[in-house]
Amino acid sequence: MSRGLFITFEGIDGCGKSTQIKLLSDHLGSTGHEVVLLREPGGTVVGEKIRSVLLDKKNDGMDPVCELLLFEAARAQIVRELIMPALDDGKIVICDRFFDSTYAYQGYARELGAEMVKALNLTATSGLEPDITFLLDIDPDEALKRRGIRGDGDDRMEALGTGFQQKVRQGYLELAASFDRVFKVNASGTREEIFSAIRDKTESVLRERS
Ligand SMILES: Nc1ncnc2c1ncn2[C@@H]1O[C@H](COP(=O)(O)OP(=O)(O)OP(=O)(O)O)[C@@H](O)[C@H]1O
Ligand SMILES: [Mg+2]
Repeated sequence: MSRGLFITFEGIDGCGKSTQIKLLSDHLGSTGHEVVLLREPGGTVVGEKIRSVLLDKKNDGMDPVCELLLFEAARAQIVRELIMPALDDGKIVICDRFFDSTYAYQGYARELGAEMVKALNLTATSGLEPDITFLLDIDPDEALKRRGIRGDGDDRMEALGTGFQQKVRQGYLELAASFDRVFKVNASGTREEIFSAIRDKTESVLRERS
């Protein structure tokens, strides 16, 4: 059986990742594909425990290197426990955030630098990379308005404010300029406009592989 397809979604908080992941997985499911939906940090029992430590606002004294290592620890688990086996089974894996988040948040916005992040990403993933990464690009003020509409309480990462989100956005844009697998989508459009770009790109990659 051929290896499955590994798709990741990236972008600042509130850019529309969950919304588009649902649309894409419904679409792929309805066209006969087996889809596995995962999120980072989390996805596994161990990873969800690490997630709650990372997002807990009470942990506001967390050192940035500690934060980086916790994200990578959760990643090591999800890659080996869930992502690699699903890809080996020929499934389509869609992951809500993956290692590009670590470049953008910890490497770029937290200024830990790309080299340290690259080395740890490689350790955590054993070299596994997404086939396609959708970067949903949006102005942080617009994303903040959307999150306001949703009415969620901020978690520890979201509570960092729009100045931090601006830096994260810049980090992501550098990645999009550097890697062909990163497909940037203007996320300020309607749900349907954004989804149409994502669906077209996914279908063209599936066609190339068949
Ligand atoms: N294209 C769109 N236009 C307007 N509102 C949108 C659009 N896409 C999503 N939304 C709304 O914006 C909010 C944030 O979207 P969503 O939860 O999908 O983002 P997210 O990237 O998953 O956020 P988080 O990083 O917090 O998980 C939701 O209320 C969602 O319904
Ligand atoms: Mg989400």
